[in-house]
Amino acid sequence: MKKMVIQAPGRINLLGEHLDYNQGIVLPAAINRFIEFEFTENANDAILIEALDLNETWVFELAQLNELQTAGWKSYVKGVFLLLDINESIKGLHIRFKSTIPIGAGLSSSAALCCGLAFGLNEWLGLGKTRMELALLAQQTEHQYAGVQCGLMDQVASLFGKEAHLLAFDCLSQEIEAFQLPLVGVQLFLIDSKVKHNLAESAYNERRAQLESAWLLTQDVFPDLESWRAINEAQLQVVLTHLDQSTQKRLRYVVDEMSRVQKVQKLATQILVDLNDVSLMNEHYRDLGSCINQTHEGLRDLYEVSCEEIDFLQAALLNLPGILGARMMGGGFGGCLLVLAKADFNLNLLAAVFSGYAALYQQRPSVEQIILTDGVQVL
Ligand code: GLA
Repeated sequence: MKKMVIQAPGRINLLGEHLDYNQGIVLPAAINRFIEFEFTENANDAILIEALDLNETWVFELAQLNELQTAGWKSYVKGVFLLLDINESIKGLHIRFKSTIPIGAGLSSSAALCCGLAFGLNEWLGLGKTRMELALLAQQTEHQYAGVQCGLMDQVASLFGKEAHLLAFDCLSQEIEAFQLPLVGVQLFLIDSKVKHNLAESAYNERRAQLESAWLLTQDVFPDLESWRAINEAQLQVVLTHLDQSTQKRLRYVVDEMSRVQKVQKLATQILVDLNDVSLMNEHYRDLGSCINQTHEGLRDLYEVSCEEIDFLQAALLNLPGILGARMMGGGFGGCLLVLAKADFNLNLLAAVFSGYAALYQQRPSVEQIILTDGVQVL
């Protein structure tokens, strides 16, 4: 019997949060949390999909799919099938999937679902689409079938991730460059706040709309400006005078974050050069940590996509010896923090922070050790 197994990873993002729909460069990586899909042939004509973790089964015929009302994971499945625009009717397909990417933790489980499924169908049916075409289709699924006007970072990370590498994804040119960030004397890990970012969609779309209208206005004032990336401080000051207070803060964050990304790209290059110089390496990682902290401050105070629980954790972490930087990661309003710590940071120190958090918020965070992995692949 024909059979195929596909593995689609979740992602982290080192820096460049909320820049993917703001003409920026983002620095994500695929991680070793996966959705695994098993494709097999099915005796009858319908398409049978099983979400094993949820113990849910869905049987449908392609011809009727457009009419079906869906919610949750089924909406993503519907979107991928319809957007792939499969002409022949697929007969007898059985897909079972299970996941180690926590839902709502900011690790892009929905991108992994769409990218893995689209990649699998592309392979199974020999549709011949490129990874970038599949990434765009997965993004379109979020836009049309989940109502989230997301950027392209999560899909690119899931499809183009490279073992032991981060990606510099230029969201204007769509160029992707893999780079290494050797962790010498430091470690990167996640802390899952366990706050699910359920209400994030509307706030996300609102941020996007604010920046889009700010860009239209900017083009009126400075028609020669190619993107936010090219704006200088004097021009920015002029643009800000035309914006309401909230949009001013959003734009300030975007421009600041863009310069932090540039700084971190330079740092990453310098780290490769200075690998054998312990004191320079310490300095580089201290600088990286402060960029991470500044990003958190910007997301909290200017972009306003953090939440009380995450801010509590971030502040408490920074009080611990050996923590160099910590920030909320992903769309916001919950999920995971990305933490940069010295290699000898004593993880036991987290227990007191977690107990304090549990007393306040009735949930216990978890530490998630991660490895940077390859993007979607056939196993
Ligand atoms: C979500 C979106 C991404 C990106 C991040 C914020 O994960 O899906 O496109 O905008 O938020 O960086």
